Amino acid sequence: MSQLSDLRELRNAFGTFMTGVTVVTTREAGGTPRGFTANSFTSVSLDPPMLSICIGKSADSIEVFRQAEGFAINVLAEHQVETSSLFASKRPDKFEVTPWRDGPNGHPVLDGVCAWFECSVEQRLDAGDHILMIGRVRGYDYNDQNGLGYVRGGYVTLGLEQAAVSAAGQASRVVVGALVACNGRILLQRPQTGGGLQPVASGLRQEHGSIVRLREILKGLDIGAVIASLYAVFENDETGRQYIYYRALADHEGDLDADFYYPDDVPWDDVESEAIRVMLRRYIDESRDMRYGIYFGNQRNGKVMLRNGD
Ligand SMILES: Cc1cc2nc3c(=O)[nH]c(=O)nc-3n(C[C@H](O)[C@H](O)[C@H](O)COP(=O)(O)O)c2cc1C
Repeated sequence: MSQLSDLRELRNAFGTFMTGVTVVTTREAGGTPRGFTANSFTSVSLDPPMLSICIGKSADSIEVFRQAEGFAINVLAEHQVETSSLFASKRPDKFEVTPWRDGPNGHPVLDGVCAWFECSVEQRLDAGDHILMIGRVRGYDYNDQNGLGYVRGGYVTLGLEQAAVSAAGQASRVVVGALVACNGRILLQRPQTGGGLQPVASGLRQEHGSIVRLREILKGLDIGAVIASLYAVFENDETGRQYIYYRALADHEGDLDADFYYPDDVPWDDVESEAIRVMLRRYIDESRDMRYGIYFGNQRNGKVMLRNGD
């Protein structure tokens, strides 16, 4: 049995419980919007309608939430990993870089979420290093997007993985890759076997499925990269392979600094193939306003699907 005094172990044990991800928002007395990422959301009661959320006493916004008369829970959709990271940070401009609006009761509701609940505070309980807030639901809405998942400190995007797996179901040769971005730059590398510049990619499909292998590769790069969402699924009938690319975000460049390129510095003639050039150009274009579609097709023709709620 693990020791209760080992807080890291206890955190790991709690982390085995898979949850969704929410952003909890409110306004300061003067009206300034505040918010933080939380996976401690739980529905509590249907009649009367109630839910709960826990906020750590070390959060910068703790005093605001101690005083708040109400708050909103924004349930993040699976394409909102960046929003989760942003609201888990201490950045002061969270609401300047995220599109949002006021809910009917005046609490910030973020664009693109799969559900939101506006609440009045029913009860606040002191609970160790957190405060447990029980909210009475005053208004809500939802749509049919898949929610973002979180387990063992990593994000899971079940709908996207299913889409990729079924798209690749028939393919015998699958390459799984990631467009890894860090501070406005994108990672392109020359494979050890030679050839042109490419995003990070696995070789042929491994026994335990594609995304698992990709996660291992990203971990091996040691740049704090997490997979954000599915980006492109295409066949290349010249190579006979199927390609599945995800978007990923790294939190530092590490030893790979020289392999990260600003959009203006990409040596296009040195990029592996026309299919990858087209994908990279779309990615750079879409990065300007962070509205990413998903491409399905082959190396020449396909369709870019936009997501619900964007
Ligand atoms: C997936 C995820 C879930 C989190 N869940 C919670 C939570 O339930 N309660 C909490 O207080 N902090 C949680 N955090 C950490 C806060 O988001 C983080 O401490 C944030 O900086 C708080 O914002 P603030 O300091 O600007 O108030 C979570 C972070 C992540 C990435």
